[in-house]
Amino acid sequence: MNTTAIIFDLDGVIVDTAKYHYLAWKKLANTLGFEFTKEQNELFKGVSRKRCLEILLDIGKVEASQEQFDLWMVEKNEDYLAYIKDMDASEILPDVQKTLDYLKGKKVPLALGSASKNAKPILEKVDLLPYFKVIVDGTNVTKAKPDPEVFLIAAQKLNAKPENCIVFEDAVAGIEAAKAAGMTSIGIGDSKTLTNADYVFKDFTEISKEFLEGLMQ
Ligand code: BG6
Ligand code: MG
Repeated sequence: MNTTAIIFDLDGVIVDTAKYHYLAWKKLANTLGFEFTKEQNELFKGVSRKRCLEILLDIGKVEASQEQFDLWMVEKNEDYLAYIKDMDASEILPDVQKTLDYLKGKKVPLALGSASKNAKPILEKVDLLPYFKVIVDGTNVTKAKPDPEVFLIAAQKLNAKPENCIVFEDAVAGIEAAKAAGMTSIGIGDSKTLTNADYVFKDFTEISKEFLEGLMQ
């Protein structure tokens, strides 16, 4: 019997929302009078909203009261939500749906393991919610990636052993989290950035059925 379970990150793996997170943070940085580059944005991938703002304020050397910090968190999220307002299935990354259909056909239990508090509405917008047996997102965790909590909760809810779980991730912090959970990690993105992943593919168009089948043995 196939015991493998698969956990997908959302932003940058299933949908290209990483660019909208970047634009929203860049807008805030520019309002505060400093630049925020795509290279710096790599550090934000997979990282909670709160931690992202802490890093952003460090970059800009900006001090803030708790009240001001909370207002900027809200402002960033409102800008982000405006970017994704009209999002639909056309924003699903290449061959993701094909991969999900294939895994569903093989009856592989699938979970979402995302740091985002916006994960469920995004899955609804792109019509992918029914593929996932379990959703663990930023509303369910107390510790952000690279802590393994999000993936360990997903495994537990799927009734799967961590060593039988495979994680698709685009973030350095997410690969670390998968490793810390004792799971197989598959990086989606640049192999020069995702150096700690067990495997790295540019995107799902590079992942063959044979590779997926090999994982499930
Ligand atoms: C992750 C993104 O999936 O979710 C991060 O990679 C983001 O960039 C984090 O900060 C939290 O997202 P949200 O939607 O709750 O602000
Ligand atoms: Mg991601």
